[in-house]
Amino acid sequence: MYILGGTSSKAITEDLSKELDQPLARTTLKRFPDDELYVRILDNIEGEEVIIVQTTYPDKNIVELLLIQDAVYEAGAKKATVILPYFGYSRQDKKFEEGEPISARAIAEHISLHAGCIITVDPHKEHLLKFFNIPAYSCSAVSEIAKYLKEKDIDFVLAPDKGAMERAQHASDIIGCEYDYMEKTRIDGKTVKIKPKNLDASNKKVAIIDDIISTGGTMAKAIKELKRQGAKEISVACTHGLFVGGAKEKIISAGCNEIISTDTIKNEFSKVRAAPCISEVLLKNLH
Ligand code: R5P
Repeated sequence: MYILGGTSSKAITEDLSKELDQPLARTTLKRFPDDELYVRILDNIEGEEVIIVQTTYPDKNIVELLLIQDAVYEAGAKKATVILPYFGYSRQDKKFEEGEPISARAIAEHISLHAGCIITVDPHKEHLLKFFNIPAYSCSAVSEIAKYLKEKDIDFVLAPDKGAMERAQHASDIIGCEYDYMEKTRIDGKTVKIKPKNLDASNKKVAIIDDIISTGGTMAKAIKELKRQGAKEISVACTHGLFVGGAKEKIISAGCNEIISTDTIKNEFSKVRAAPCISEVLLKNLH
């Protein structure tokens, strides 16, 4: 078996290779003068099981993944399992308006072309797995996030919206505390409105858990609401930390005490590893 990582997922690929005790495949990845990508696999992977690891974000990494998959196919690998630590485009999982694509399906169908199976971490919604034309599995980094939070004596876990409630519940089970959710309405791509719930946040240490932090708007709103209710300390945790559009500053200035993310997208808050949950589902579904 070989583990082959794209440029978006170098650290997590190395971690996975250690976790599974399997070698990394050597590759050459470079850009032509016109910025097109050149890919070459240097090891002989004919007849081998290959685990390709690549987050499909930002866009350049999608092309890179497709070229790596083609190279693995051309080299005659026995089977290619594609691990998407973060499945980019997953939030456009349906047509919200007439004339739009179902972006998650479009990307999923292309990735399905040269892959035997797909594994992704905390997909935005579970039904996304059906967009792949091959067996697709998810795993969750919430247990690892919860283990980290358990050390912080959190009083309750909060989901910023109803959709994230299962994650909050799962984390609260591990931490051994209560959970709740806030009601969120999205006004547009950059604005969300949060309706207060009857939370007893006063003097409590609260952790807010979501799958993605993108612009930080959702978290900042939830933090402000908790502050208004007298929370003592607030941490925010996510699986996929995109942190775009001044998210970090927004979250900190709202009054956050700690930001936590996994390494599905490596960032300065990647304090939790996703490799353990990936290897668990991988080992279950390898053959
Ligand atoms: C949306 O449903 C997701 O679960 C996240 O809440 C959302 O993507 C976060 O985005 P932002 O950080 O831009 O508010």
